[in-house]
Amino acid sequence: MTLADKILKLKKQKKAVILAHNYQRKEIQDLADYIGDSIELSRKAMQEDKARIILFSAVDFMAESAAILNPTKKVLLPTPGARCPMAQMLTVDEINRARVHHPLDPIVLYVNSLANAKAYCDVCCTSANAVQVVESLDADTVLLGPDRNLAEYVQRQTGKTVIPIPECGFCPTHILFQAEDVEMLKAQNPRAMVMVHPECTFEVQRHADFVGSTSQMCRYAKECSAKTFIVATEEGILHRLKSDNPDKRFILAYEDAVCPTMKVNTLDRLYMALKEEKYVVTVPDAVAVPARKALERMFEVTSNNCKA
Ligand code: 13P
Ligand code: SF4
Repeated sequence: MTLADKILKLKKQKKAVILAHNYQRKEIQDLADYIGDSIELSRKAMQEDKARIILFSAVDFMAESAAILNPTKKVLLPTPGARCPMAQMLTVDEINRARVHHPLDPIVLYVNSLANAKAYCDVCCTSANAVQVVESLDADTVLLGPDRNLAEYVQRQTGKTVIPIPECGFCPTHILFQAEDVEMLKAQNPRAMVMVHPECTFEVQRHADFVGSTSQMCRYAKECSAKTFIVATEEGILHRLKSDNPDKRFILAYEDAVCPTMKVNTLDRLYMALKEEKYVVTVPDAVAVPARKALERMFEVTSNNCKA
Protein backbone atom coordinates (compact mmCIF):
# COMPACT_ATOMS: atom_id res chain seq x y z
CA MET A 1 0.00 0.00 0.00
CA THR A 2 1.42 3.41 -0.92
CA LEU A 3 1.56 6.25 1.56
CA ALA A 4 -1.16 8.03 -0.40
CA ASP A 5 -3.39 4.93 -0.11
CA LYS A 6 -2.74 4.77 3.63
CA ILE A 7 -3.78 8.41 3.99
CA LEU A 8 -6.96 7.82 2.02
CA LYS A 9 -7.81 4.77 4.16
CA LEU A 10 -7.17 6.66 7.39
CA LYS A 11 -9.16 9.61 6.08
CA LYS A 12 -12.19 7.37 5.66
CA GLN A 13 -11.78 5.74 9.08
CA LYS A 14 -11.43 9.09 10.81
CA LYS A 15 -14.20 10.80 8.80
CA ALA A 16 -11.82 13.48 7.63
CA VAL A 17 -11.81 15.80 4.65
CA ILE A 18 -8.56 17.08 3.16
CA LEU A 19 -8.37 20.67 1.92
CA ALA A 20 -5.20 21.70 0.09
CA HIS A 21 -4.07 25.08 -1.14
CA ASN A 22 -3.00 25.52 -4.78
CA TYR A 23 0.63 25.87 -3.57
CA GLN A 24 0.82 22.44 -1.93
CA ARG A 25 3.14 19.74 -3.25
CA LYS A 26 1.62 17.96 -6.23
CA GLU A 27 1.28 14.61 -4.44
CA ILE A 28 -0.83 16.38 -1.79
CA GLN A 29 -2.97 18.15 -4.40
CA ASP A 30 -3.55 14.78 -6.07
CA LEU A 31 -5.11 13.20 -3.00
CA ALA A 32 -6.95 16.21 -1.56
CA ASP A 33 -10.74 16.36 -1.59
CA TYR A 34 -10.61 20.04 -2.52
CA ILE A 35 -7.86 22.22 -3.95
CA GLY A 36 -8.32 25.95 -4.08
CA ASP A 37 -7.32 29.49 -3.24
CA SER A 38 -7.82 30.98 0.18
CA ILE A 39 -11.43 32.12 -0.33
CA GLU A 40 -12.54 28.82 -1.86
CA LEU A 41 -10.96 26.80 0.94
CA SER A 42 -12.48 29.07 3.61
CA ARG A 43 -15.91 28.55 2.04
CA LYS A 44 -15.41 24.79 1.86
CA ALA A 45 -14.30 24.70 5.50
CA MET A 46 -17.29 26.80 6.56
CA GLN A 47 -19.79 24.66 4.64
CA GLU A 48 -18.35 21.27 5.63
CA ASP A 49 -21.07 19.41 7.52
CA LYS A 50 -20.26 15.71 7.19
CA ALA A 51 -16.62 15.32 8.20
CA ARG A 52 -15.46 15.14 11.82
CA ILE A 53 -11.97 16.38 10.96
CA ILE A 54 -10.76 19.03 8.51
CA LEU A 55 -7.13 18.35 7.60
CA PHE A 56 -6.01 21.68 6.20
CA SER A 57 -2.88 21.27 4.12
CA ALA A 58 -1.72 24.86 3.88
CA VAL A 59 -0.37 27.46 6.32
CA ASP A 60 -1.43 28.69 9.77
CA PHE A 61 -3.79 31.54 8.89
CA MET A 62 -5.87 29.38 6.54
CA ALA A 63 -6.34 26.66 9.17
CA GLU A 64 -7.18 29.33 11.76
CA SER A 65 -9.89 30.71 9.49
CA ALA A 66 -11.34 27.20 9.11
CA ALA A 67 -11.41 26.79 12.91
CA ILE A 68 -13.12 30.18 13.25
CA LEU A 69 -15.69 29.50 10.53
CA ASN A 70 -16.52 25.95 11.55
CA PRO A 71 -15.85 25.66 15.30
CA THR A 72 -17.60 22.28 15.69
CA LYS A 73 -14.95 20.54 13.54
CA LYS A 74 -11.52 19.40 14.59
CA VAL A 75 -9.19 21.39 12.33
CA LEU A 76 -5.70 19.94 11.87
CA LEU A 77 -2.63 21.65 10.43
CA PRO A 78 -0.19 18.88 9.36
CA THR A 79 2.93 20.87 10.36
CA PRO A 80 2.94 23.31 13.29
CA GLY A 81 5.76 25.35 11.73
CA ALA A 82 3.74 26.10 8.58
CA ARG A 83 3.55 29.82 9.34
CA CYS A 84 3.07 32.41 6.65
CA PRO A 85 5.78 35.03 7.29
CA MET A 86 3.66 37.81 5.85
CA ALA A 87 0.84 37.09 8.33
CA GLN A 88 3.37 37.60 11.15
CA MET A 89 4.21 41.09 9.89
CA LEU A 90 1.05 42.69 11.27
CA THR A 91 0.67 42.88 15.04
CA VAL A 92 -2.28 44.05 17.09
CA ASP A 93 -0.11 46.94 18.37
CA GLU A 94 0.42 48.07 14.79
CA ILE A 95 -3.33 48.00 14.14
CA ASN A 96 -4.04 49.97 17.30
CA ARG A 97 -1.43 52.58 16.33
CA ALA A 98 -3.04 52.89 12.89
CA ARG A 99 -6.47 53.35 14.52
CA VAL A 100 -5.14 56.22 16.61
CA HIS A 101 -3.89 58.03 13.49
CA HIS A 102 -6.94 57.16 11.35
CA PRO A 103 -9.85 56.80 13.77
CA LEU A 104 -12.57 57.09 11.11
CA ASP A 105 -11.12 54.96 8.34
CA PRO A 106 -12.13 51.28 8.04
CA ILE A 107 -9.48 48.61 8.47
CA VAL A 108 -9.47 45.83 5.88
CA LEU A 109 -7.31 42.82 6.61
CA TYR A 110 -6.06 40.41 4.02
CA VAL A 111 -6.87 36.87 5.21
CA ASN A 112 -3.09 36.34 5.24
CA SER A 113 -3.07 37.70 8.79
CA LEU A 114 -3.32 36.05 12.19
CA ALA A 115 -6.66 35.53 13.92
CA ASN A 116 -5.83 37.95 16.72
CA ALA A 117 -5.20 40.69 14.14
CA LYS A 118 -8.43 39.86 12.28
CA ALA A 119 -10.29 40.37 15.55
CA TYR A 120 -9.37 44.08 15.35
CA CYS A 121 -10.39 44.78 11.77
CA ASP A 122 -13.67 45.79 10.15
CA VAL A 123 -13.69 43.33 7.28
CA CYS A 124 -11.40 40.74 5.70
CA CYS A 125 -10.51 40.24 2.05
CA THR A 126 -8.54 37.82 -0.08
CA SER A 127 -6.57 38.41 -3.26
CA ALA A 128 -9.71 37.29 -5.15
CA ASN A 129 -12.02 39.95 -3.72
CA ALA A 130 -9.94 42.78 -2.19
CA VAL A 131 -11.07 45.29 -4.85
CA GLN A 132 -14.73 44.34 -4.40
CA VAL A 133 -14.49 44.54 -0.59
CA VAL A 134 -12.86 48.00 -0.63
CA GLU A 135 -15.34 49.25 -3.24
CA SER A 136 -18.20 48.13 -1.01
CA LEU A 137 -17.06 50.38 1.85
CA ASP A 138 -18.59 53.81 2.24
CA ALA A 139 -15.19 55.46 2.69
CA ASP A 140 -12.67 57.20 0.43
CA THR A 141 -9.74 56.14 2.60
CA VAL A 142 -9.16 52.66 3.98
CA LEU A 143 -6.30 50.95 5.80
CA LEU A 144 -5.27 47.60 4.37
CA GLY A 145 -2.68 45.11 5.60
CA PRO A 146 -0.40 43.29 5.82
CA ASP A 147 0.56 43.24 2.12
CA ARG A 148 1.74 46.57 0.75
CA ASN A 149 1.62 45.37 -2.87
CA LEU A 150 -2.00 44.29 -2.51
CA ALA A 151 -2.82 47.65 -0.90
CA GLU A 152 -1.25 49.51 -3.85
CA TYR A 153 -3.07 47.28 -6.33
CA VAL A 154 -6.42 47.96 -4.65
CA GLN A 155 -5.69 51.70 -4.59
CA ARG A 156 -5.04 51.70 -8.35
CA GLN A 157 -8.15 49.63 -9.09
CA THR A 158 -10.57 51.53 -6.86
CA GLY A 159 -9.20 55.09 -7.00
CA LYS A 160 -9.56 55.23 -3.20
CA THR A 161 -6.71 56.06 -0.84
CA VAL A 162 -5.44 52.76 0.54
CA ILE A 163 -2.97 53.12 3.39
CA PRO A 164 -0.81 50.01 3.95
CA ILE A 165 -0.43 48.68 7.49
CA PRO A 166 2.36 48.00 8.33
CA GLU A 167 4.10 50.34 5.94
CA CYS A 168 6.09 47.61 4.19
CA GLY A 169 4.46 44.20 4.68
CA PHE A 170 5.31 41.78 1.90
CA CYS A 171 5.38 38.16 0.82
CA PRO A 172 8.98 36.91 0.68
CA THR A 173 8.09 34.56 -2.18
CA HIS A 174 6.22 36.98 -4.42
CA ILE A 175 8.84 39.73 -4.18
CA LEU A 176 11.25 37.32 -5.90
CA PHE A 177 9.54 38.06 -9.21
CA GLN A 178 11.37 40.76 -11.13
CA ALA A 179 10.06 42.92 -13.98
CA GLU A 180 13.18 42.28 -16.06
CA ASP A 181 12.66 38.49 -15.90
CA VAL A 182 9.08 38.91 -17.10
CA GLU A 183 10.24 41.28 -19.86
CA MET A 184 12.83 38.74 -21.02
CA LEU A 185 10.31 35.86 -21.05
CA LYS A 186 7.80 38.02 -22.87
CA ALA A 187 10.44 38.86 -25.52
CA GLN A 188 11.12 35.12 -25.95
CA ASN A 189 7.39 34.25 -26.01
CA PRO A 190 5.68 37.27 -27.54
CA ARG A 191 2.24 35.60 -27.75
CA ALA A 192 2.26 34.45 -24.13
CA MET A 193 -0.23 35.87 -21.64
CA VAL A 194 1.21 37.09 -18.34
CA MET A 195 -0.65 36.16 -15.13
CA VAL A 196 0.46 37.90 -11.94
CA HIS A 197 -0.57 37.57 -8.28
CA PRO A 198 -1.32 40.94 -6.62
CA GLU A 199 1.34 40.19 -3.98
CA CYS A 200 3.96 40.88 -6.68
CA THR A 201 5.37 44.38 -6.95
CA PHE A 202 3.75 47.02 -9.15
CA GLU A 203 6.71 46.79 -11.57
CA VAL A 204 5.78 43.15 -12.21
CA GLN A 205 2.01 43.76 -12.19
CA ARG A 206 2.54 46.37 -14.92
CA HIS A 207 3.39 43.56 -17.36
CA ALA A 208 0.30 41.52 -16.51
CA ASP A 209 -2.51 40.61 -18.87
CA PHE A 210 -4.30 39.28 -15.82
CA VAL A 211 -3.91 40.00 -12.09
CA GLY A 212 -5.74 37.74 -9.65
CA SER A 213 -5.78 35.02 -7.02
CA THR A 214 -4.39 31.56 -7.71
CA SER A 215 -7.78 30.04 -8.57
CA GLN A 216 -8.74 33.06 -10.67
CA MET A 217 -5.54 32.41 -12.65
CA CYS A 218 -6.64 28.78 -13.16
CA ARG A 219 -9.98 29.95 -14.54
CA TYR A 220 -8.34 32.59 -16.74
CA ALA A 221 -5.89 30.02 -18.21
CA LYS A 222 -8.77 27.66 -19.01
CA GLU A 223 -10.93 30.32 -20.65
CA CYS A 224 -8.19 32.17 -22.54
CA SER A 225 -7.40 30.94 -26.05
CA ALA A 226 -3.64 31.60 -25.66
CA LYS A 227 -1.37 28.54 -25.64
CA THR A 228 1.47 29.90 -23.51
CA PHE A 229 1.31 31.63 -20.12
CA ILE A 230 4.00 33.33 -18.04
CA VAL A 231 3.08 32.83 -14.41
CA ALA A 232 4.12 35.06 -11.50
CA THR A 233 3.05 33.23 -8.38
CA GLU A 234 4.27 30.29 -6.26
CA GLU A 235 5.38 27.24 -8.26
CA GLY A 236 2.79 24.84 -6.76
CA ILE A 237 0.13 26.36 -9.01
CA LEU A 238 1.85 24.91 -12.08
CA HIS A 239 0.67 21.40 -11.21
CA ARG A 240 -2.97 22.39 -11.36
CA LEU A 241 -2.51 24.63 -14.40
CA LYS A 242 -0.79 21.83 -16.32
CA SER A 243 -3.26 19.11 -15.26
CA ASP A 244 -6.25 21.28 -16.21
CA ASN A 245 -4.70 22.38 -19.53
CA PRO A 246 -2.49 19.61 -20.93
CA ASP A 247 -2.32 21.33 -24.33
CA LYS A 248 -1.02 24.64 -22.92
CA ARG A 249 2.44 25.70 -21.73
CA PHE A 250 3.10 27.44 -18.42
CA ILE A 251 6.38 29.19 -17.67
CA LEU A 252 7.18 30.25 -14.11
CA ALA A 253 8.49 33.82 -14.23
CA TYR A 254 11.09 33.01 -11.55
CA GLU A 255 11.96 29.37 -11.25
CA ASP A 256 12.83 29.40 -7.52
CA ALA A 257 9.56 31.02 -6.47
CA VAL A 258 8.81 28.52 -3.73
CA CYS A 259 6.99 29.31 -0.50
CA PRO A 260 9.01 27.38 2.09
CA THR A 261 6.21 27.21 4.64
CA MET A 262 3.64 25.92 2.14
CA LYS A 263 6.12 23.17 1.28
CA VAL A 264 6.78 21.96 4.83
CA ASN A 265 3.65 19.83 4.49
CA THR A 266 4.49 16.40 3.09
CA LEU A 267 2.57 13.15 2.65
CA ASP A 268 4.39 11.78 5.74
CA ARG A 269 3.18 14.71 7.80
CA LEU A 270 -0.37 14.40 6.51
CA TYR A 271 -0.35 10.73 7.46
CA MET A 272 0.96 11.39 10.99
CA ALA A 273 -1.46 14.29 11.44
CA LEU A 274 -4.42 12.05 10.65
CA LYS A 275 -3.10 9.11 12.65
CA GLU A 276 -2.44 11.12 15.81
CA GLU A 277 -5.08 13.80 15.16
CA LYS A 278 -2.53 16.60 15.44
CA TYR A 279 -1.89 19.54 15.32
CA VAL A 280 -5.26 20.83 16.44
CA VAL A 281 -5.87 24.48 15.59
CA THR A 282 -8.05 26.33 18.07
CA VAL A 283 -8.90 29.98 18.40
CA PRO A 284 -10.19 31.31 21.73
CA ASP A 285 -13.73 32.75 21.62
CA ALA A 286 -12.55 36.25 22.54
CA VAL A 287 -10.62 36.29 19.25
CA ALA A 288 -12.79 33.95 17.17
CA VAL A 289 -16.06 35.87 17.61
CA PRO A 290 -14.84 39.27 16.27
CA ALA A 291 -12.59 37.59 13.66
CA ARG A 292 -15.58 35.58 12.41
CA LYS A 293 -17.59 38.79 12.02
CA ALA A 294 -14.85 40.25 9.83
CA LEU A 295 -14.74 37.09 7.70
CA GLU A 296 -18.54 36.95 7.44
CA ARG A 297 -18.65 40.58 6.27
CA MET A 298 -16.29 39.59 3.47
CA PHE A 299 -18.58 36.71 2.49
CA GLU A 300 -21.59 39.06 2.50
CA VAL A 301 -19.85 41.37 0.03
CA THR A 302 -18.82 38.53 -2.27
CA SER A 303 -21.76 36.14 -1.86
CA ASN A 304 -23.33 37.19 -5.16
CA ASN A 305 -20.13 36.62 -7.08
CA CYS A 306 -19.09 32.97 -7.22
CA LYS A 307 -15.79 33.93 -8.87
CA ALA A 308 -14.65 36.05 -5.91
P1 13P B 1 -4.63 32.96 -2.99
O1 13P B 1 -5.78 33.36 -2.15
O2 13P B 1 -4.54 33.67 -4.29
O3 13P B 1 -4.61 31.47 -3.18
O4 13P B 1 -3.28 33.38 -2.25
C1 13P B 1 -2.91 32.92 -1.02
C2 13P B 1 -1.50 33.21 -0.76
O5 13P B 1 -0.98 32.85 0.25
C3 13P B 1 -0.76 33.95 -1.76
O6 13P B 1 0.56 34.00 -1.40
FE1 SF4 C 1 2.51 33.61 2.91
FE2 SF4 C 1 3.70 34.33 0.64
FE3 SF4 C 1 3.67 31.79 1.37
FE4 SF4 C 1 1.42 32.99 0.55
S1 SF4 C 1 3.26 32.57 -0.67
S2 SF4 C 1 1.63 31.66 2.31
S3 SF4 C 1 1.73 35.06 1.41
S4 SF4 C 1 4.70 33.49 2.43
